Amino acid sequence: MSNLANMDPRIIESIDQIQPPPVAVTKLIEILAQEFHTEDVIHILQTDPALTAAVLKRCNTAFFAQRGGVSSLNQAIQLLGTSTIMNIVLEITIGASMNRGLAKYGIPPSGLRKHSICAAAAARELTKYCSILPFTPDTAFTAGLLHDIGKIAINEVLAEQEAALKDDAPEATQSNIERERSLIGTDHSEVGALILTNWKFPPFFAAAIGEHHDPSLGNPLSHLIHIANWCAHAIGLSFGFQSLSDELSPESLSVMALSEANIEEAIIDTYSELNSKFKNILTDEPL
Ligand SMILES: [Fe+2]
Ligand SMILES: [Fe+2]
Repeated sequence: MSNLANMDPRIIESIDQIQPPPVAVTKLIEILAQEFHTEDVIHILQTDPALTAAVLKRCNTAFFAQRGGVSSLNQAIQLLGTSTIMNIVLEITIGASMNRGLAKYGIPPSGLRKHSICAAAAARELTKYCSILPFTPDTAFTAGLLHDIGKIAINEVLAEQEAALKDDAPEATQSNIERERSLIGTDHSEVGALILTNWKFPPFFAAAIGEHHDPSLGNPLSHLIHIANWCAHAIGLSFGFQSLSDELSPESLSVMALSEANIEEAIIDTYSELNSKFKNILTDEPL
């Protein structure tokens, strides 16, 4: 992996320009990575009254209000679960960046967010089939949400130059990762890890994002996110230029002790969960 010292300064500048989430979000990521009590989650959120107010407001918007609405964080967590609360927190804090179209990748507005939500839901589904899990399902979900965040910074850098990631060769020969590397000497997984390190996320979490396209170098969370990303493509929540998609790594299945039948079931359950929870996610409309 490159480090900051030998990275193109334009990329470092672009990483710095992505507004980091508030400190409470980093603390939430840390706590959700372990065995935790609901009170701990509430306590952290309450240290940020503006975030708490925004979470409750979001919980009472039309979609969630159909379930009766909520008036406290405790009620919100009981009703929606910590993964959904984390999704809402990230939507409030970095949702605007995730929702933008990424022209250099050919990704339309909401495309990155839809793909990321799908990978997150698939990652959490997959944890149900893992007999040994060195992280929590909430961590899997959050890593799925953030796995492609590096594309935002790379899109900014490429916006200043002619080159795009589309491979115009009659027979496309490069994957997105190879194309990114040939254009700017790094790729979105590596840049994603640097963004999350910059935001002071736990090292194993940042490392997992950094290796999601080459999980053999990474930790078990890298393998799970690699599989979840593949599931999101299989479900069809795949946007932009994909001249060559990653093959599903047999090593990742083996490390996570997942069978092909497990993957199929996870895909079916993820699809129905997305359909019931996220209006418009499976349509061409923006989220
Ligand atoms: Fe990726
Ligand atoms: Fe992805």
